[in-house]
Amino acid sequence: MTSERVSKLLQEMTTEEKIGQLLQLSADFFEGSQAVITGPMREHDLTLATVYTAGSVLGISGAERVHQIQADYLAKSRLKIPLLFMADIVHGFQTIFPIPLGMAASFDPEAVKLASEVAARESAVSGLHVTFAPMVDLVRDPRWGRVMESTGEDPYLNSVLAKASVDGFQGDLDVEHIAACVKHFAAYGAPEAGREYNTVDLSEWRFREQYLPAYSAAIAAQAKLVMTSFNTLFGVPATANQHLFRDILRDELAFKGVVISDWDAIGELINHGVAGNLQAAADQALAAGVDIDMMSFAYAKYLQKAANLDESTRQLIDESTARILELKESLGLFTDPYRQVTPEREQAELKSVQNLNAAQQVAEESIVLLKNERAILPLARDQKLALIGPVANTGDLLGSWSWQGDQHQTPSIYTAMAEKFPQVSYASGCAYHQLNHREFDQALSTARQADKIIAVLGLPSSESGEATSMTDIRLPQEQLTLLQALAKLGKPIISVVVTGRPLDLTLVDDLSAAVVLAWFPGSRGAAALTNILSGAVNPSGKLPMTFPRSVGQVPIYYNQFNTGRPLSHTENDRENKYLSKYIDEANSPLYPFGFGLSYAEIKAQPISATQQGRSIQLKVELENTAALAGKTVVQCYLHQPVATTVQPVQRLVAFSKVLVPSKQKVELTLTVAPEELTYLDAALKRQTFTGELKFLIGLDSQHTKAISVAYQND
Ligand code: GLC
Repeated sequence: MTSERVSKLLQEMTTEEKIGQLLQLSADFFEGSQAVITGPMREHDLTLATVYTAGSVLGISGAERVHQIQADYLAKSRLKIPLLFMADIVHGFQTIFPIPLGMAASFDPEAVKLASEVAARESAVSGLHVTFAPMVDLVRDPRWGRVMESTGEDPYLNSVLAKASVDGFQGDLDVEHIAACVKHFAAYGAPEAGREYNTVDLSEWRFREQYLPAYSAAIAAQAKLVMTSFNTLFGVPATANQHLFRDILRDELAFKGVVISDWDAIGELINHGVAGNLQAAADQALAAGVDIDMMSFAYAKYLQKAANLDESTRQLIDESTARILELKESLGLFTDPYRQVTPEREQAELKSVQNLNAAQQVAEESIVLLKNERAILPLARDQKLALIGPVANTGDLLGSWSWQGDQHQTPSIYTAMAEKFPQVSYASGCAYHQLNHREFDQALSTARQADKIIAVLGLPSSESGEATSMTDIRLPQEQLTLLQALAKLGKPIISVVVTGRPLDLTLVDDLSAAVVLAWFPGSRGAAALTNILSGAVNPSGKLPMTFPRSVGQVPIYYNQFNTGRPLSHTENDRENKYLSKYIDEANSPLYPFGFGLSYAEIKAQPISATQQGRSIQLKVELENTAALAGKTVVQCYLHQPVATTVQPVQRLVAFSKVLVPSKQKVELTLTVAPEELTYLDAALKRQTFTGELKFLIGLDSQHTKAISVAYQND
């Protein structure tokens, strides 16, 4: 329903002013850079007047800077329509949280919501109105660098965390919250061969069953914007795909908000081969319902013929303009274009102790203990430790999309460890991708003096995120050579891995007594890791994405289909050649989805399963026989029911993170919602399972206990 203010503005605005609202320009257009004026402005026949009717800008923040640009803009705006400030605030603004894939490992929606709330507060006091997040693309291919930005391979986990993130960013859109832009619509996370920007080719059935749920959850959570994806889907580039944006997003999901293209995605319709020129690209995107053109200048083409637009184009421009004005109105910008932003509020909020503590708390929940032979962890304070590796003493712990973060202000793992362990020494041993003999020999000499070796390995932030696809997902050979040399010293090795993607850690697992996955843990990640290694915090992270034994297994994910010749690990399977398997590698992953160890000894036992209305309730008993408390994630999987379309061998349908005190039992109830007890048939119609349903309960996806219940859907 268009508000009175928006209706009135639409009547007063000229066609040029409406077209202006559809343009998003980058920061440099508003900072008077000569390169812009002589570059894209000339190239696209833009005038300064165009700049000052553009509806939004991306990449500008800072209370004073935003205030000055907004004031300058409004002074030039005939109808005083405020400028919208947008940016990528993905896992924190100046206080950086673990990368989203790391936060997903917390399996804690409250932790994800907290991270988004802090990010929103810090962004809002710095003048931002919209974040290009959450990214909820389902991912199954660690070769693709942007897995770091997602929450992993499971539709249900992604849906729960997508809602949590939107709720955290938006709240009630007061001046401490910002609008969320769910991205990238759609299925950008499934590029063939894991190659960035590559073709996505999914059946609509699979798209709807596995990729659509998380976008749908974000939209149901009232995300205010959706961003188009660079890729094709169903044979058409998403940014021009009317089936995707009109039929599915607008009609089926009833999305009433703003659609923004990804950077130059409208212009790229020419490269995709569906548009012969920029005007044709503009027409296709506008017809698909793309409201804002991010930096392709395609919509600026309409300025050159504003007086002669046909009625249908004029109507589409009005619709898009209305949605953009409604977004500005929902942010209160017409009432207060500055949203109470002041340098004082900004100063008090950015990297506050409260915010940094929140980042540490979420990092502690995200770190995953993958191996702990002979309970070598946690470490006693008085142990002589050698911290060795290229990631041991660096602030490069923030990961991609941390543009406002400061690595130089980020304590390194060595700094944090030295505060807790008086006898820790350090040597780099090598660089990320480079060995030199002096460093190498120094590291071995340092390691020889210690009781235990902590190898801190991984990749730099620059090798994670957008445009970082890799064909080899092992650690760099230089680091593996260092690890092999350390292993020859005959001392126990604890390997800590800093990464934005699942890696092939087969050799690391072989050579290490313990393996700790730190992800890119954020501004206080080093302190969080130190608390885990010292036992001050009991690790509770679980994998949101499968870790393969080899890149040759990719895509590998837990919720796979059984096939007609499943490998069922019975005796004769070894003899039977004609099964779905490899001759040179196991089918199983190195570390499965949902896996993560604890210092406590916790077991899960299903007690009962009953139908309650159209839901199913499962009672589960957890017992902790260890002398210390621990959190864990109880996972409930629906075992492959019989249906008219193939169903995953198991599918996560409920989970809960629980604290289990030492030497105690805890009983909890998991509720499986009715919508999790449905499937899509071959005609894309949603059906409901009926009859006996088997659920698998466990603390990861592989080690589970079954319980069944008759489910009547009358
Ligand atoms: C990038 C990304 C998108 C981001 C946008 C603006 O290319 O694909 O996720 O929000 O440009 O920075």
